[in-house]
Amino acid sequence: MNAEISMSELKNDRFLKALLREPVDRTPIWMMRQAGRYLPEYKATRAQAGDFMSLCMNPDLACEVTIQPLERFPLDAAILFSDILTIPDAMGLGLYFETGEGPCFKKIIRTEADVQSLNVVNTESDLDYVLKAVKTIRRELNGRVPLIGFSGSPWTLATYMVEGGSSKDFRHVKAMMYDTPEVMHQLLDVLAKSVIDYLNAQIKAGAQAVQIFDTWGGSLSDVAYREFSLKYMQQIVAGLIREHDGRKVPVILFTKGGGQWLELMADTGADALGLDWTTDIGSARGRVGNRVALQGNMDPSVLYASPATIRTEVKRILDSYGQGSGHVFNLGHGIHQFVDPDHAKAFVEAVVELSPAYHG
Ligand code: CP3
Repeated sequence: MNAEISMSELKNDRFLKALLREPVDRTPIWMMRQAGRYLPEYKATRAQAGDFMSLCMNPDLACEVTIQPLERFPLDAAILFSDILTIPDAMGLGLYFETGEGPCFKKIIRTEADVQSLNVVNTESDLDYVLKAVKTIRRELNGRVPLIGFSGSPWTLATYMVEGGSSKDFRHVKAMMYDTPEVMHQLLDVLAKSVIDYLNAQIKAGAQAVQIFDTWGGSLSDVAYREFSLKYMQQIVAGLIREHDGRKVPVILFTKGGGQWLELMADTGADALGLDWTTDIGSARGRVGNRVALQGNMDPSVLYASPATIRTEVKRILDSYGQGSGHVFNLGHGIHQFVDPDHAKAFVEAVVELSPAYHG
């Protein structure tokens, strides 16, 4: 009975349908990092919150920025406003953001003793602010579009925890992986368990699909990717709640730079794979199309070009994917902060206008 109520409540479900490769009237679209600094209203709300983490920890303001891009563009999904680094923060690492420098941790993980000193995360209490944000956003969306929950992959989270922040060469985390693989596995194992718990709690709080961001999986060798990233994402997919409130909860795996591993990623049992712009979406569909949906994959830098060029590129990607469902349009990575919001609008509108021809 509950199930019927929530299903009828969702007014736009083409995103969830496309993830399950069910027929849709047009290709759904959302943008990675759609709530962010390219929007002046986001900057205003962040200023009101004080800083980025205070914004994440305030459910009402997190809800406000989640909905901002939906007020501007005809998007088919909302994504929880938070960050992947909330888990390491809850493990006791002390996350903070230095303006212009990205994320930093007060405590860094380099040894077995460091791994053993990590707090065991209790999602319900330590990450309660995230679950409150999910509930608030669901209430405010009122069935307008589905809400996506997310987490980082264990490997991607580990890169930040071991490097102490963003990195270009991953020197410490790779030294640890090659010299002491058993310690690396201990860390990844703890992270995988926390991610399962965290995503399941988001689903119970109201997230209707979840995405795992493996932003740095593409920095690994083929063998290392299988052992240190893919294996843990597979554990996560196996541990997730796949149906809630009478509806399937699709899982999207996104490994940036992961084009060569699509078949292996599809083997994890995920419903959809996120593609960055370096892989041709038509070839990707040929490789895995009957097993998973595909999400992507316009180069975010195309948004620096003119609306006419953006439209041409959207058409090219729609043509490359071809007819039928199973495609969620997106950028191949997050939208850049210097993009003109009118160009983002031209992008979303091009998908809305051009994609019906590929369906029905
Ligand atoms: O997509 C959305 O709109 C939801 C929000 C979201 C944020 N971070 C908000 C954010 C999501 C899904 C993330 C995920 C995230 N965070 C990832 C994986 C996705 C990816 O981009 O690959 C990663 C690697 C992080 C870690 C992180 N958080 C970094 C490296 C930074 C600094 C980025 C920068 O450009 O300075 C952040 C901060 C962050 N997370 C911002 C936002 C909007 C910018 C912070 C600000 O407002 O000052």
